[in-house]
Amino acid sequence: MSTRIDEIAPDTFRISIYVPQFSLQFNHFLVRDDEPLLFHTGMRGMFPQVREAVATLIDPAALRWISWSHFEVDECGALNQWLAVAPRAQAICSQVGAAVNINDFADRPPLGLAKDDVIETGRHKYRFVPTPHLPHGWDAGVLFEEKSRVLLCSDLFHQIGDVEPVTSTDVLGRWDAAIAAYQQHPVLMDYVPLTPATRRRLNELADLQPKVLAAMHGSTFVGDGAAALRSAADMLQLRLGATAVDAQHAA
Ligand SMILES: [Fe+2]
Ligand SMILES: [Fe+2]
Repeated sequence: MSTRIDEIAPDTFRISIYVPQFSLQFNHFLVRDDEPLLFHTGMRGMFPQVREAVATLIDPAALRWISWSHFEVDECGALNQWLAVAPRAQAICSQVGAAVNINDFADRPPLGLAKDDVIETGRHKYRFVPTPHLPHGWDAGVLFEEKSRVLLCSDLFHQIGDVEPVTSTDVLGRWDAAIAAYQQHPVLMDYVPLTPATRRRLNELADLQPKVLAAMHGSTFVGDGAAALRSAADMLQLRLGATAVDAQHAA
């Protein structure tokens, strides 16, 4: 598994590891700033490789903030390994994430963020937006950087394959293709739930007017992020809505 590092926004680096077995890229985002931030710790098994990549950008011991969207191994599996190498690092996640998982899971207490709480790293300012059950998980949330308008969006806009680091083309079509493929999979189906709040939450993220969608799996999208997020609600409705489910059961 090789690592690729790309600067997707000023001092915001996408550390990507492609796993052919899953036909999937795992992306970790490192913000090089006065108080460096890592979004997605990566899995425990990937820790040596991600740490080596981070070390080409900053001293890993200088890491100050570690964050992710929801409790899963690709999001935060290596949290304790990072806390061990970075003595000043603190985990930041949703308040519910802290309460139900991280207060017990982490070797040091996390900081639970409420809606619109802001973390300043120096030149960057990250706003926390809770997104329960989007892409999935009660504890889900995202971080939005207000100056460069980067949305660290986790599994939203998930794309399969070893794709290019940055694209301005149709990431929504790729996300739709990924969901369609997973819906056909006996284990991976029902990856993203469609709930009464899904459209509202996607529209809330669109209202932030992001210009960069930093996806965990697949290319970072640069362009009209608001339009992509608003259209995503239609895509999910079409792909996962009652009509689609009824049609599946009837087939
Ligand atoms: Fe996930
Ligand atoms: Fe993921």
